[in-house]
Amino acid sequence: ITIRRATIGDIICMQNANLHNLPENYMMKYYMYHILSWPELSFVATTTDITVDEDTCSTDGASAADEEEYMTLDDNLGNSIKLDPTYVKPGEKLIGYVLAKMNDDPDQSEEPANGHITSLSVMRTFRRMGLAEKLMRQALFAMREVNQATYVSLHVRQSNRAALHLYRDTLQFEVLSIEKSYYQDGEDAYAMKKVLDLNELK
Ligand code: ACO
Repeated sequence: ITIRRATIGDIICMQNANLHNLPENYMMKYYMYHILSWPELSFVATTTDITVDEDTCSTDGASAADEEEYMTLDDNLGNSIKLDPTYVKPGEKLIGYVLAKMNDDPDQSEEPANGHITSLSVMRTFRRMGLAEKLMRQALFAMREVNQATYVSLHVRQSNRAALHLYRDTLQFEVLSIEKSYYQDGEDAYAMKKVLDLNELK
């Protein structure tokens, strides 16, 4: 199992996993927006194990050559940051993803830089192996390191015990508030937040 940065070639499989695992689904252009605007923040977990029978989706191995180059980004302080190359292996299957962004709400432009976890999921066969925690830590580290995010936020269903355990107990997010009827079916959300400390995330 490999964890690597997500690329445009992964979007179809990320959407496939999202449709399998969560009721909150997004249009293709919203995935594109994440990957094109913050290519350093979203990650996928993949396997080349061909015996996997769950409805996993094969990533686009054909784009491997393009993705092997180092990605150079400018941080907001005028420094150039070189990210490790993303190796897309032919025959890979996507088994988990984290879709992350920076908060770019113009109404909150006074706020210090902060990140947001839009969506996270791991295919059923591969749960309870620590993959979600690893995906999250990669995204949080990149937010802090590349974008100087001082904190990260997310929403989670009150009934989602697995995700709550991961966020509150494993990753030490705090519950900021309860957003009434946040979800389309009327369920409330916990709005959660974590202050990002590089020493802890390294
Ligand atoms: N019940 C209780 N605790 C759980 C459960 C569970 N069902 N699943 C995982 N945990 C705990 C683990 O024991 C571990 O705790 P530890 O640090 O004390 O050992 C911690 O959560 C992290 O476990 P991982 O193995 O990293 O989590 P996993 O890879 O299984 O993925 C996830 C967790 C993403 C919530 C998965 O169950 C899933 O895909 N669920 C469906 C989609 C979903 O709910 N996504 C989150 C929605 S919120 C959002 O997207 C912002």
